[in-house]
Amino acid sequence: MALPNKPTGELPATLDPAIEELETDVLIVGGGMAACGTAYEIKKWASDDTKILLCDKAALERSGAVAQGLSAINTYLGENTSDDYVRMIRNDLMGIVREDLIFDCGRHVDRSVFLFEEWGLPIWKTDDQGKSQDGSKGLSPLKDGGKPVRSGRWQIMINGESYKRIVAEAGKAALGADNIIERCFIVKLLLDANEPNRIAGAVGFSVRENKVYVIKSNAMLVACGGAVNVFRPRATGEGMGRCWYPVWNAGSTYTLCQEAGAEMTMMENRFVPARFKDGYGPVGAWFLLFKAKATNTLGENYMQTNAEMLKQYPPYGLAKVPASCLRNHLMLKEMKEGRGPIFMDTPTALSTLSANMTPKEVKHLIAEAWEDFLDMSVGQAGIWAGMNIEPEKVGSEIMPTEPYLLGSHSGCCGIWVSGPEEDWVPDAYKWGYKGMTTVKGLFTAGDGTGASGHKFSSGSHAEGRMVAKSMIKFFNDNKDFKPAIKQSSKELADIVYKPVKTFMDHYEKTTAVDLNPEYIKPNGFQKRLMKITDEYGAGVSTYYVTSGAMLKRAFELLDMLREDSEKMAAGDLHELLRAWENYHRLGTVESHLRHILFREESRYPGFYYRSDFDKVDEDNWKCFVNSKFDPEKGEWSVFKKDYIQIIPD
Ligand code: ADX
Repeated sequence: MALPNKPTGELPATLDPAIEELETDVLIVGGGMAACGTAYEIKKWASDDTKILLCDKAALERSGAVAQGLSAINTYLGENTSDDYVRMIRNDLMGIVREDLIFDCGRHVDRSVFLFEEWGLPIWKTDDQGKSQDGSKGLSPLKDGGKPVRSGRWQIMINGESYKRIVAEAGKAALGADNIIERCFIVKLLLDANEPNRIAGAVGFSVRENKVYVIKSNAMLVACGGAVNVFRPRATGEGMGRCWYPVWNAGSTYTLCQEAGAEMTMMENRFVPARFKDGYGPVGAWFLLFKAKATNTLGENYMQTNAEMLKQYPPYGLAKVPASCLRNHLMLKEMKEGRGPIFMDTPTALSTLSANMTPKEVKHLIAEAWEDFLDMSVGQAGIWAGMNIEPEKVGSEIMPTEPYLLGSHSGCCGIWVSGPEEDWVPDAYKWGYKGMTTVKGLFTAGDGTGASGHKFSSGSHAEGRMVAKSMIKFFNDNKDFKPAIKQSSKELADIVYKPVKTFMDHYEKTTAVDLNPEYIKPNGFQKRLMKITDEYGAGVSTYYVTSGAMLKRAFELLDMLREDSEKMAAGDLHELLRAWENYHRLGTVESHLRHILFREESRYPGFYYRSDFDKVDEDNWKCFVNSKFDPEKGEWSVFKKDYIQIIPD
């Protein structure tokens, strides 16, 4: 007979969780960069008696995509214009973006970077002699005219191991610790019982004690990041825990909002980062700051040897920097034709840079190369150390990873939100409050906001700040609303704790606790999900290729997986978290593949290909693909939406 809970370490789940009912004016779900931006900003706009509550499934100090730290801030405009920021992103995302949202982010993002520096984040500076100073070194802050060390046109270098802690501390201090519940995972959003399409609350649970939270709220922000581990990763077994994006981002933003009926946009888009193989170390500093080249096994720069290929895709070879997906597309050609492995030529880059340096400066340069990993991707430094890699002597392998779904880095899937309330914004892009989804009172930011990628950490924070202001405006205009929830708190608690009940009812039926005819554990569920996406949904095993027929098969298998999601079992609170995270992953995958099926072209070569429509079809598909789930009928609709160019070429 199996034991009910793992013998050590985990917190056992029980069948009778306590229920805590809370009521707030504004609920912030999430604790990453966007949510911390909201937490920092919101009280400035709210009246003293407005109640604000933030729920994070982890601890604010180290949660979200920036948890491990970063070595660069990828969006700082400085001397650039917002118009050019829009042009850069439009090119990188193959022409279909929400230019209003991007422009708005561009004109506000630097203020967030100034705040980070004020709160103590060391930002590298260029001194009067034009030399890079690692750390601020007493030079003027950016807001007083200090010059950053630019790794690229949009990126600046930082000492960012503690980036998230610094940003979280400011958010926490502004909101007040009493208004924050950490270790609370939100499972479902709740619509109002009386007013259709109106948010009224959320239900979640504590991952530290047997307790369910039922929270009523007038306005709500959902900003829980993107989705990782939705495709089978290249590294399996123990290595699976090392991904490019943090393992805890489970697509909650997308599934929570789409199940509540929010219109989604560009869910077909994905990001396949080219990264240092196995450790997922960042390549930006190498390409942009150290000016390294990636080469095939013959030592050729495939971006040059394959340059002709770019002429087949918009903007037909005219872009100064080819789109991220097209850079992958050129690399994949080498790999498929047997000219892999691909290497980042670190020795040539470092020796070129150090040509006129003193030995001390050379030592510092090499330290910077290590620090790039140590700030944000410690595992990659571990790989270098463990494999005797000295970057000044040997190159390192790079490779396109498994796909990730997100809206703040170089991808743009997400939720369709209202743009700024200004004349220049087309009517089709605005219906009320900036950042509000098509569900009344429900807002999103960061990875949640669709069709506006390349915000990165700073842009997500800025977007969170903007949404704070707009949520308070919404709340003040809707103060009389009294949220009413359809189900009783007990009914909601039973839904949340169903995996625990399933486990308790059946665990005695087998000797191995993870295998049971009556249930599926979250771990097995996740592996099944990954197998389906990898084999049929354009994962690494098919070199990112799928087709209508393969997607049809994926949906048959996903339908069965959805049936089995009812039988997910959790023996402890950790597994209960995993169960619901994987349920959120399933929802995110379904909309991703539904959108890919609908878009009958290959808009992002290098990220994914439809073998049955293997071209970019500007005539028929230069448009958004949006979708909507009807929570009453349980039906999906997928449809086209016009793309409107605002910033001229
Ligand atoms: S991240 O994981 O830290 O975000 P990375 O350090 O690789 O990744 O940084 C990504 C940033 O560098 C993004 O702004 C991206 O657009 C840019 N970037 C990376 N590679 C290139 C390249 N070859 N050409 C132009 N920009 C690049």
